[in-house]
Amino acid sequence: MLFIIPLPALIPAFSYNMEILKNISLKNYNTFGVDAKTAYFRELSEEKELPSLLHWIEKNRIPYYLLSGGSNVLFVDDFPGIIIQINIKGIKKIDESDDHVFVRSMAGENWEDFVELCLKNNWGGIENLTLIPGNVGTSPMQNIGAYGVEIKDSFHELQAMELKTGIIKTFNRDQCQFGYRDSFFKNEGRDKYMILSVCFRLSRKKHILNTTYGVINQELDTIGIKQPGLYDVANIIRSIRRSKLPDPAELGNAGSFFKNPVITQEHYDSLKSKYPEMPGFPDASGNIKTAAAWFIEKAGWKGYRDGDAGVHKRQALVLVNYGKAKGYDILSLSETIQKSVKEIFDVYLEREVNLIGPSNYQKAI
Ligand code: EPU
Repeated sequence: MLFIIPLPALIPAFSYNMEILKNISLKNYNTFGVDAKTAYFRELSEEKELPSLLHWIEKNRIPYYLLSGGSNVLFVDDFPGIIIQINIKGIKKIDESDDHVFVRSMAGENWEDFVELCLKNNWGGIENLTLIPGNVGTSPMQNIGAYGVEIKDSFHELQAMELKTGIIKTFNRDQCQFGYRDSFFKNEGRDKYMILSVCFRLSRKKHILNTTYGVINQELDTIGIKQPGLYDVANIIRSIRRSKLPDPAELGNAGSFFKNPVITQEHYDSLKSKYPEMPGFPDASGNIKTAAAWFIEKAGWKGYRDGDAGVHKRQALVLVNYGKAKGYDILSLSETIQKSVKEIFDVYLEREVNLIGPSNYQKAI
């Protein structure tokens, strides 16, 4: 159960030499642009500040949440505790061989800035992951992926601080237990670690480009590029993304709101007989990965708008905030869509976006 003591009883933050802001709007800290408030807010720019901050939280027994780029969260309501915004910066090449380079980025670096830096240096592996909103530190949590590539493909290791002990641990690829939009940090490791930095193993030459997804090869042919480089692939993906996905700076959203559902072959066959055009691809487990966007569109929700909460006009998997939608409005729309897709297709759409609401506040440790 959530335990909150009355705010006036809080120990003054200055006893830990830290400035803690009060009653802050989170509008600029989440890509949905939801105007939720947090009782306390602290930007963390040095990892060494974390233990004393956690101590302060423990003493005051308020809930806390570690926020990164805010690109995969929905603040359902105002937050009664402290938001710690991870803003630790720095990128460093730490090793290289003939073919590879090992590059470490601190958690608070913007993902797209990191991609651009890699492209500029001709370091290959993450070019398909261009324009994904968010920061480097959360990229391994949900194993971000797009256009046939996931970060696990070029991931080397990460460092994370165990919140309970303050001990810094290194996790290799196996220990991260990557899956589709999934990792150790979304399961057993949930709420137990703060990712401090991520190290990638990137190619320096003989890049292995992945151009098989969708229309990438077709676009390369149209432009007449026979031997594409990293920028060619990135630029094609940038234009595909810009044509389909809304820019959070212009229209609040958190990318795909749901995961693509995986269903049994039997279920797929029965749906396919009714809807021959329904997309689906076998996955490693022998089941079929289907397209959440297709179900949502087929159920009639694409372009739907209720007040300021809506479903994007060009990509049905993306819920949007036209301006003043509250977290509850977006949550409620998402639940209506889940119910509708379940009723029509007997398919459950699992949320990809993290809800920050009364039911899942992280208690003081
Ligand atoms: N589709 C529809 N209606 C739509 C959009 C798509 O029927 O409104 C169908 C398409 O026809 C296609 C299928 O759905 O057959 C897949 O569409 P798309 O290639 O656009 O990708 P997606 O499965 O909807 C996933 C990721 C995206 C990523 C793209 C490209 C998830 C949950 N989403 O979307 O990731 O950019 O593939 O690789 O896996 C994100 O995670 O925030 C994100 C945007």
